[in-house]
Amino acid sequence: MQNSGIIQDQIDYYRARAGEYDEWFYRQGRFDHGEELNKRWFDQVTDVVRALDVFAPTGDVLEFACGTGLWTERLVQHATSLTAVDAAPEVLVINQERVANECVRYLQSDIFAWQPDQLYDVVYFSFWLSHVPPERFADFWDLVRHCLKPGGRVFFVDSLYEPTTTAHNHTLLGKDSTVQDRKLNDGSTYRIVKVYHEPQSLSAQLAELGWQPTIERTANYFLYGSAQRAES
Ligand SMILES: C[S@@+](CC[C@H](N)C(=O)[O-])C[C@H]1O[C@@H](n2cnc3c(N)ncnc32)[C@H](O)[C@@H]1O
Repeated sequence: MQNSGIIQDQIDYYRARAGEYDEWFYRQGRFDHGEELNKRWFDQVTDVVRALDVFAPTGDVLEFACGTGLWTERLVQHATSLTAVDAAPEVLVINQERVANECVRYLQSDIFAWQPDQLYDVVYFSFWLSHVPPERFADFWDLVRHCLKPGGRVFFVDSLYEPTTTAHNHTLLGKDSTVQDRKLNDGSTYRIVKVYHEPQSLSAQLAELGWQPTIERTANYFLYGSAQRAES
């Protein structure tokens, strides 16, 4: 399989990062960029949350790369049932403690080796697509297609290319780079996949694969959107 080394490194990184993952989202420690930029971040999180609420992820929902549950807890407000998949057992424990909801089924698996055992009304993933290597982009969206009921919908959120999205001691390489070195609080370093998509080019890529996407961006930090199969 292509990229299996970096895919395993990425899993190892998120396993080791589980206990400090939320510092990124809450702009703490190395991710604290000061009052003004932090406010910008949280305002733009609110924009995305509003868009997700309007989209309304109802019915049977699948969440890829659910992480510590920052979005799982929002999805359960809409979903009838939720399947949450992640490769890192450490984040699944945190997620379960945070969400504490019986409608969630947790599955520990590498997404690139996973197949669904049921079909879903909605497939959701946040801050995951940027970790899908370009060589696996089409296969990943094929998996998404196979997970959906006829007429099913997709919602996704991801990072825009913006230096203050990440930690003070992380260096963003050029916009076209597809890898990044990430540090943990103890200084250990991991190499991961990070592809910064742009709404226009991502829309074109998805249309080519037979999707009808609607993709938007917030002022600085986030790309978000929905998609359905063109034939549905
Ligand atoms: C950037 S985090 C996003 C977490 C969550 N979706 C959020 O928005 O907070 C990426 C997640 O992908 C998971 N992950 C990384 N590689 C994976 C793989 N190959 N299969 C399944 N999950 C993976 C990590 O464990 C981590 O929880």
